[in-house]
Parts: sequence; structure tokens; C-alpha cells
Amino acid sequence: MADNIDNLLTETRRFAPSDEFTANAVATSALGEAARTDRLAFWADQSRDLLSWQKPFTQVLDWTNPPFAKWFADGQINVAYNCLDRHVEAGNGDRVALHWEGEPGDTRTITYAELTADVKKAANVLLSLGVRAGDRVIIYLPLIPEAIVSMLAVARIGAVHSVVFGGFSAESIRARVDDAAAKLVITADGGWRKGAVSALKPAVDEALEVSAHGSTSVEKVIVIKRGGNEVAWQEGRDLWWHDLMAEAEPEHVAEGFDAEHPLFILYTSGTTGKPKGILHTSGGYLTGAAYTHKNVFDLHPESDVYWSTADIGWITGHTYVVYGPLANGATQVVYEGTPDSPEPGRWWDLIEKYKVSIFYAAPTAIRSAMKAGRQIPGSRDLSSLRLLGSVGEPINPEAWVWYRDVIGGGKTPIVDTWWQTETGSIMISALPGLTTLKPGSAQVPLPGVSIDVVDDKGLPVGNGQGGLLVITEPWPSMLRGIWGDPERFKETYWSKFEAASLGKSQGYYFAGDGARKDEDGDIWLLGRVDDVMNVSGHRLSTAEIESALVSHPIVAEAAVVGAADETTGQAVVAFVILRTSQVDTMTPEDAVAALRAHVAHEIGAIAKPRTVMIVQELPKTRSGKIMRRLLRDVAEGREIGDTTTLADTSVMNAIKIG
Ligand code: WTA
Repeated sequence: MADNIDNLLTETRRFAPSDEFTANAVATSALGEAARTDRLAFWADQSRDLLSWQKPFTQVLDWTNPPFAKWFADGQINVAYNCLDRHVEAGNGDRVALHWEGEPGDTRTITYAELTADVKKAANVLLSLGVRAGDRVIIYLPLIPEAIVSMLAVARIGAVHSVVFGGFSAESIRARVDDAAAKLVITADGGWRKGAVSALKPAVDEALEVSAHGSTSVEKVIVIKRGGNEVAWQEGRDLWWHDLMAEAEPEHVAEGFDAEHPLFILYTSGTTGKPKGILHTSGGYLTGAAYTHKNVFDLHPESDVYWSTADIGWITGHTYVVYGPLANGATQVVYEGTPDSPEPGRWWDLIEKYKVSIFYAAPTAIRSAMKAGRQIPGSRDLSSLRLLGSVGEPINPEAWVWYRDVIGGGKTPIVDTWWQTETGSIMISALPGLTTLKPGSAQVPLPGVSIDVVDDKGLPVGNGQGGLLVITEPWPSMLRGIWGDPERFKETYWSKFEAASLGKSQGYYFAGDGARKDEDGDIWLLGRVDDVMNVSGHRLSTAEIESALVSHPIVAEAAVVGAADETTGQAVVAFVILRTSQVDTMTPEDAVAALRAHVAHEIGAIAKPRTVMIVQELPKTRSGKIMRRLLRDVAEGREIGDTTTLADTSVMNAIKIG
């Protein structure tokens, strides 16, 4: 990290927006002025301008019971109506909502009128299966149009979706089904990934096996035909989507729900082994999604073609594939597969084909493209691009400049957007027509968002100094809690900087990231300060992987750290002590292979350790805490740091040699 900071400090390149970009920009300085004048009035205006409320709100923020905020609480809204019907009613039914492309090259073009019709039918399907407002529905799908239709149909009837990333395992599905007591699962036979069909339904079947934990709350499983592969069928429980849709009533009138009605749960990694079900509600979330999507991406919905490469299994897919773009009536590209299928240039082909003008991706993908070489994008016509975005982890200045030069033709602004599953929408980003860009810095809090960098006591650090990133005022798209666990919500996010210790009427939201203010007060993100790793822009918890490892019979103890990795940002490195009884039963190579496979099975392939080191002992303090700092030194091939607090100082020598 020290190297990183030094590099960042010497980054002096600056990129001002062109006059032409500024002249046509959606976000002007008026936005910041309005937010500074009256922050709550600003948010109320944004919400009224951007959304259509079934029952207008009169209250803006209720913060009488922090940290449980209520936004626009006496208003009523239907989220799906805002993403669909109202665009059709406004005469834009023929506008393309989705240019969808499957990995094998099959395509579907879906207009707002068609998407609205599909969602209405799907809403009727859900109702006919007994799903009601407030019920939880698990969505475990590839990135196909039906995934978006499913999410919106659930939202339309006031049910709550919990999307599970298609790369997660049966165990992960089971944990999410159980935690939310879900009533229904929507899945597919399979989806296309890297040139082959990868099956999804077996994981659902395994997750719902009643014998494993007594009973399941799930009554029905809807299966979408996508992979064309054979699936096992449970009569009475499993239903084909196409059969249900063929018989569904076409009309459905969207009812308004309270602004604070739950919209979705999305599980994310924290510092303990158990993923947290982050809860978002309706009116505030959609306000944040629409506001940020429009202003950060400079969206001109009549002319832009927008593309976020995120999967719907992550928050970026929720906010910047589904809710933000559709609330704003955008035309977007959605692509099922990986960037290198069938060849490394697939993304750039799609940009050329659909004349994409706004492109949003993760730094890890940019670094992979850099490695593959500039001739690959260089042989495509990318001249339609006018704005690029980055999300998920800090983008190093070299990748930033490459992104602008090679993908953006040396002219596009890049918005480096900092936010989290918990924040619901972008919190820190340049505004592309206003901000002079600095490669590597996320730069400024958006108008209406109150951010600071503070020391351990909560005091703001000065310019040129580092500290912890906090959000000092509530914001509309903030998480409303952790599903079923209000205490954990308070403890995780609000206990570090409590009102009393700050001497204020309210505490700060602590994000878990370290950050630095530069001489101009711009913000540079420095990575997580807790035991959360960021692998390819995906959050993984060390504790969760450790508990997967120790659930394997050959493991006595395990410690996991995130080690710097050139392509993925961080990589999972595991240190494992084998049970004495097991040591001689398999070779170290077999043990390592078995453990990597086991983690993939327990959590998903993204959590598979890059490296597993079999060791005799782990470095611990006298109180028994594992000293991850030292393990990180080993994992990153550094000189081992200060070992004086170790209970047994010889341990590190053994690990180094071993
Ligand atoms: C990191 C993803 C630096 C950060 C939207 C945060 C970033 C975590 C950036 C949230 C960025 C996200 N620069 N770091 N532009 N964007 N992060 O919940 O550590 O999957 O806390 O949300 O990703 O990850 P999550």
C-alpha cells in the first residue's frame, strides 16, 4: 500500500472536459449550488423531477431514530411503473430498452413497450403462484432479458427480490433462501459462459434438498429455458417459465407502495463469515439510482447507447443495469457472456456494433485488456464512445490513461465512481462536464452527498492527509438495514463513529475504506481497512473463506489474506494447517487441489484461493489473534514486518521456509 500512495502522490496529469462536452452536459454547477443551499429540498426536487409518484410525498427525511432513516415516507410509488409504463405513456414505447446479445451471438431487441408487456405478464404469473407484497423471491439466472423482467415483476407486485450471482454455489443459494425465508426461486436450465452452457438448476436443486436442513420455505421453482440442457424435474414444484408466460393475463395495473416498502435484499461480504443481507427500499433507492445515472453518466436518453458490463448478481447490475437506466428511459446493451468469448475482442465488437456511447466497466477488466494488447481494441471502431466509467476498486493511473487513450480515443472523460452495495448508488465521482479529471482519484462527493475523511476519533483530516472514509449525513439510497439483524446493522456501520463520541446529534456511516484527501481536497481511495478483500472488483470476506476451508475434514486451521495481484487487484491467498491425522493421507498437491475445489463448491469459483500454502503453524498474538499483516507480507513476497507481538517468533521463519 505504501508504494501505491507514493505513486498516487506523484500523479500530476490532468484532463479537463472539452468545451463541447461541457456545453451539452446534463450536470451543471447549478446542481451543487442547489444541494448546498438546502440539501433536503434538493433531494425532494430530484425525486419529484426524476420519478413519478403515485401519491406525492410531503416529508423528505425522517431521521428521528438513527441509523434507521426514512425518506419520502408518506409518498407512494411503484418502482416498476417508473422503469416501464410511464415511458410508454410518454410516447416512448418504441424506444429500444435492451439490445441484448447472448454469448453465442443470438440477439434480442426489446423496446420499452415490449418490456412493459413482459413484466406485466410476469407479475401476473407471480400473483397466480401466490406471491404477495413483502414475500421474498430468489433470482438465480444468467444475464438474459428474463432476469431483468423477473426483477421488475417482483418489484411491480411489491415482493422483494434477492438476486444470487449465477457463479455462486448451492451452499450460497441455501444460505440466502434460508436467511430470507424465500417463497419462490426463479432460475434457468443453464446460461452461456466461455463458449459452453453452464448449468444452474442443479445448484438450486441441491440448495433446496429438504433432507439437508429439515424443510425449505420455497414452494415453487420457475425455470427459464436458455441453455437447452437436460434438467432434473420435481413435479409439483418446478414450472417452465414459457408455459406460465404463455397463459398469463396481459394486463396488470401497477399499485403504489409506501416509499419505504422493501425493494430488494442483496447479500454482500463483511468481516464475519456470514454474508449480510443488505436491504434497500423503494422511493429513496430509485431516487439515488436515477439521479446518479443521469448526472454521472451524462445521459441523453434520446440519443445515447449505454452499456454497463456488470452482472445483475452485483449491486452495479441492480442500480446501473436495471433500475437507474430504465428509470431514466435509457437504451442499453446487455451482454450475457465473458469479454473473451469467443475471442478477446468481444466487448469492443459490441461497442462497434451497437454504437455504444457510454461504457461502464471494472478496472480488472481494463487491466486484462491492457495485457492482451492495444491492437485488439485498436482494430475496432470505438468512435461512438463519449464517456467511460470505472467501478469496484481503485483504478491505477496507468490503467486509467490506457482506458482513455485506447478505448476512449484520447478524448472521453472517465468517471471513477466510488460506492458500495450499502450506499445503493454512486457517492463519489467526477461530474463529466464540470470536473477536471485526475487519473486514480474518485475525486468529489456528488451534490447532495456528505462525505469526509476522518481520523480514528472522527475528526476531519486536512488536505494532503489520509484517514477513514465516512458519510456524515443520511442519503436517499442508503441501506435501511441488514435483513433480520438490526443490531448487526448498527454495529457494523455506525458503532465506529457514534454520535456521543463525536459530540454530535448523529453518528457517521463508516464505509470500511481508507482514503486520502489531496492538496485540492479531492478523494483518493486506498482500499479496505478491514478484513474484506476486493478480487476483480468483487467483495470477498477473509472470514467466509476461512470458514469454508475449516469445514473441510483435512483442515485444522486456516487464515486467508488478500494479496496484491496485477490483474485482479487482490487475490485470495490461504494459509492452512492440516489435521495431523490427515497429513500423510494425501500429497500436498492433492490437498491444495482439494481445498481450492472445496472453496469453489462452498462459495463459488470467484472465491477459489489463487494460492494455498500448507503450513505448520500460524502467526498469532499472545491473545490468539492471527496476525494477517505478517501473512500478507509473505503472500506479497515482502520482507516480514515487525514480529515483536508474536507469541512465538520462530513461527514466521517456518512459514517463510515452508
Ligand atoms: C470498493 C461495488 C475505489 C470499495 C459498487 C468499496 C472502490 C467496495 C470503488 C464496495 C472505486 C468500489 N474506487 N474503490 N471507484 N468502487 N470500490 O459493495 O472498497 O461490491 O467499499 O460495491 O468496493 O464493493 P461493492
